[in-house]
Amino acid sequence: MANQTRLYPESKVELTPFTLKHYDTLINMASFGLYKPFIRKAIRAMNIQPDDRILDFGCGTGRNACLMAKYLSPGGKVAGLDISKTMGEHFEKKCRKYPNLEFRQQRVDQSFDLGEKYDKVFMSFVFHGFPQEVRHIILQNALRHLQKGGTLNILDYAEFDVGSTPLWFRLPFKVLEGGCKYAWDYLERDWKQVLSEYGFGRFDEHFFIRGHLRLLKAEKIE
Ligand SMILES: C[S@@+](CC[C@H](N)C(=O)[O-])C[C@H]1O[C@@H](n2cnc3c(N)ncnc32)[C@H](O)[C@@H]1O
Repeated sequence: MANQTRLYPESKVELTPFTLKHYDTLINMASFGLYKPFIRKAIRAMNIQPDDRILDFGCGTGRNACLMAKYLSPGGKVAGLDISKTMGEHFEKKCRKYPNLEFRQQRVDQSFDLGEKYDKVFMSFVFHGFPQEVRHIILQNALRHLQKGGTLNILDYAEFDVGSTPLWFRLPFKVLEGGCKYAWDYLERDWKQVLSEYGFGRFDEHFFIRGHLRLLKAEKIE
């Protein structure tokens, strides 16, 4: 990562300069074109309301924020947070036609407070890449920024046993996450149980790619 120290060298979440530069193209290629229809469906399943204020943790290039913007009125907004300046440049270029989208260079693995409450916090393929104690900080950050009744939307791997998954999914999973012990740990946890310990409830799940990926929606109850 250009000019940035990697805090989690065993994780794939801190991207290399090459991956940062070509992220969307690489994902399209690695998914054999499946990513585009998948992400559209996943964002539709978020049930975004016109006036929603959304925080996107680890927003990447802004591709997801632009898809979310299509559901918003001028009263709604998306604030994309990412550690990477390169991702910020992609975001600002990609999203410039949407005035209610903004980028902030902000780490989500350390405690922060933007001083505002949001209706939704979204995290797409970010959460699995951190150690469990850091996920705790990320969840606290989400809770702090959600209003009561707001939802945390985690789009990531579902809970599955790698050994029993079919080869067509196991192989790309191992290529992408092979050396990342945090991703393997992520698969084994009962996330609804974990999130309920943080004061989340009224869960809603949507599965994609034959059950291997999941949008988990969790409402802030307390
Ligand atoms: C696998 S990419 C996912 C990007 C985007 N969410 C998507 O679905 O297209 C992970 C993203 O998390 C960002 N990231 C990594 N560590 C981060 C941190 N500590 N705080 C905020 N963003 C981080 C990376 O720069 C990258 O954009």
